[in-house]
Amino acid sequence: MTQPILVTGGAGYIGSHTCVALIESGHTPLVLDNLCNSSSESLERVRRISGVRPGFVEGDVRDAALLDRVLAEQRPQAVIHFAGLKAVGESVQQPLEYYDNNVGGTVTLLQAMQRAGLRNLIFSSSATVYGDPASVPIREDFPRSATNPYGRSKLMIEDVLGDLYRADPAWRIARLRYFNPVGAHPSGLIGEDPRGVPNNLLPYITQVAVGRLSRLRIFGGDWPTPDGTGVRDFIHVMDLAEGHVAALRHLLAHEGMFTVNLGTGQGCSVLQMVQAFERCCGRGLPYEIVQRRAGDIAECWADPAQAQRLLNWKAVRDLDTICADAWRWQQANPAGYA
Ligand SMILES: NC(=O)c1ccc[n+]([C@@H]2O[C@H](COP(=O)([O-])OP(=O)(O)OC[C@H]3O[C@@H](n4cnc5c(N)ncnc54)[C@H](O)[C@@H]3O)[C@@H](O)[C@H]2O)c1
Repeated sequence: MTQPILVTGGAGYIGSHTCVALIESGHTPLVLDNLCNSSSESLERVRRISGVRPGFVEGDVRDAALLDRVLAEQRPQAVIHFAGLKAVGESVQQPLEYYDNNVGGTVTLLQAMQRAGLRNLIFSSSATVYGDPASVPIREDFPRSATNPYGRSKLMIEDVLGDLYRADPAWRIARLRYFNPVGAHPSGLIGEDPRGVPNNLLPYITQVAVGRLSRLRIFGGDWPTPDGTGVRDFIHVMDLAEGHVAALRHLLAHEGMFTVNLGTGQGCSVLQMVQAFERCCGRGLPYEIVQRRAGDIAECWADPAQAQRLLNWKAVRDLDTICADAWRWQQANPAGYA
């Protein structure tokens, strides 16, 4: 029997798309998720896309006894650790929740892996660890900093993983720093389904387009950028998912720890994204430009050369594909998975 890949947080946005990419590359995902920000319907949709329903354990990564049982019974080959909380604003209001869930959850997971003799881990880090970068594109060796508890939890976990690897080089660890994941699987069956008013641009845009929200708010039109709106590195979620498969392939074949950016290397402004989406859905979107949001930065995009060199992976899907796929998902599922 093939050993599964344990995917914590696998019912969520990036996790469900990664399950599809894992299945397509011959792996067997086993999802552990407490469904605090997702629905198990996403896994049923993964089955409709791929023909395989991932194994599913409903539970929390902070539950050591559950982890011991799952690792002993299922003997996974590696863990891809997506589970965590990710809303920057909420992290400022509820810092302890974020440190408990993200940092505490990761330490509990690592301890259980150590007890089980399993030392292969891929971790979801974020471009947020670069803080407000001095220049773009951003390379992995740029200084790191945090402006909020969410970002600090990612920094702390990166450091925990670094310390663990130095103490025991038998660990194989990938720290993947995602830029701005957007879009959906081309089937329109899985996509991003945020609870409440979206924090991220693309679900906000698609919910305005589908009539769930009345108008888009763009935070800041006076940034020092070509059109005054913020510039980001929007990466198609299926490119990101395939980046995990490439990282897993590398991890299983090589000793060591590595840290790579997963981005496209292209900056795209918020207004450019709105215009691309308007082209895609064939009509204008109502929007207003409002005050900058605290903690936002002007520009952020990746130097993706390291991922290409090390993993032989690069993002291939363009902005039009991102918009078309996000729109297909939103139109087919106006209320998300509900
Ligand atoms: N989406 C982004 O913009 C982005 C950018 C950079 C990094 N990341 C990171 O990638 C990971 C996945 O993000 P996503 O966008 O898919 O988010 P998501 O909320 O859709 O997925 C996270 C999943 O983890 C689960 N979860 C949370 N806490 C848990 C716990 N204690 N035990 C078990 N399951 C738990 C949630 O129910 C959810 O299904 C997160 O760690 C996030 O910080 C996301």
